[in-house]
Amino acid sequence: MRRRFIGCGLMSGTSRDGVDVAVTEITGRFPANKIKILHAETQAYPASVRALLLRATRGLTAEDVATLDFLLGGLYGQAVLKALRRAHLKPGDIDAIGSHGQTLLHRPRGVMVAGRRVASTLQVGSGAVIAQTTGILTVSDFRSADIAVGGEGAPLVPVYDYVVLRSRTASRIALNIGGIANLTALPRRARIGDISSFDTGPGNSLIDSAVGMVTRGKQRCDRNGTMALSGKPDMREVRTILKHPYFRRQPPKSTGWSEFGEEFASRAVTRMKRRGLSRDAIVSTVTCAVGRSIAEAIRSYVLPRLAPDEIVVTGGGCHNPVLMAILKEAFPRACVDPGEAFGISSDGKEACAFAYLAYLNLKGIPANVISQNSGLRPAVLGVTALTY
Ligand SMILES: Nc1ncnc2c1ncn2[C@@H]1O[C@H](COP(=O)(O)OP(=O)(O)O)[C@@H](O)[C@H]1O
Ligand SMILES: [Mg+2]
Repeated sequence: MRRRFIGCGLMSGTSRDGVDVAVTEITGRFPANKIKILHAETQAYPASVRALLLRATRGLTAEDVATLDFLLGGLYGQAVLKALRRAHLKPGDIDAIGSHGQTLLHRPRGVMVAGRRVASTLQVGSGAVIAQTTGILTVSDFRSADIAVGGEGAPLVPVYDYVVLRSRTASRIALNIGGIANLTALPRRARIGDISSFDTGPGNSLIDSAVGMVTRGKQRCDRNGTMALSGKPDMREVRTILKHPYFRRQPPKSTGWSEFGEEFASRAVTRMKRRGLSRDAIVSTVTCAVGRSIAEAIRSYVLPRLAPDEIVVTGGGCHNPVLMAILKEAFPRACVDPGEAFGISSDGKEACAFAYLAYLNLKGIPANVISQNSGLRPAVLGVTALTY
């Protein structure tokens, strides 16, 4: 491997909006790596693919799953080739692709089958297809090894947060508000074992679903929080949403579409419609619930151990001024700002982290232990597809 590693990270999150691509340069030695984005872009899924993915929650057959796996693998491969052309790079310039894949199922706590508790997770977007489409070595399926050693399988970014965002002078929370929101707590002068990480619950997924429902599919998201700003949140409904048992569970914990996807949103929206709330009030209410669920998670599970000086917000949610205002108000003594204020890309961060996870895989460096901070066996995350 060259001293300068160029990875291409792919992130396709719970929002099912598309795939983020980040061509990333990694130098130095773990954990003192320097990680720099050379080129980042988001490629929206074609409408037909998005529609397929939104339906893909329940009752999928093996045929559906296999088809989606190969369909998305091909799309991700094409997305890489397109991004490389725009970045004036060739596949030969890239050492590896790291791809998260699209989650179809995430059940870290498991279910009882054949007398055993079986935890599982499933991301589609075949690494073999990506590798063959691009001619680039591809690492995918990062969650399985962590689940296999008894971990949550998510979040996967804490190792990246540790390398890029730990600070000698400030205690930080790295908060990513994607479809699901997750955070990594990084105490000042943290060592790798000092950090902790968990999913706080829904992020944009709940807002996007509510917007889709109240606009009958005409709008997909509340751009710049316009609807939430025009309405007033219904506090009774906010409290009902926050009664979901997930919020009371101690970390480490992770969640996904099955807990906070369309079904959950649809129940909340139906309740609010029945009570005669306006479109804007409904969107304002779910936005308030999302913001408060994040603030509450920080209060309950982070503040007892760490008072954050800085909250580094990334993911699509950092563009929502209502979410940002709720967080700023909840933590007046912390500096709450988008990633850019701390030198990282808010939209490219997670894709960049997957380029880094591919690098760690190829170096044989375990990436799970610090994601859980729970004495789990170290595991190298990801499965490699070679091209020859
Ligand atoms: N300008 C904006 N205003 C409000 N919300 C935004 C804006 N830009 C992005 N978002 C939200 O961010 C979501 C995408 O977030 P992203 O970080 O890509 O999540 P994921 O990793 O789950 O795909 C969009 O669906 C939308 O809800
Ligand atoms: Mg996205």
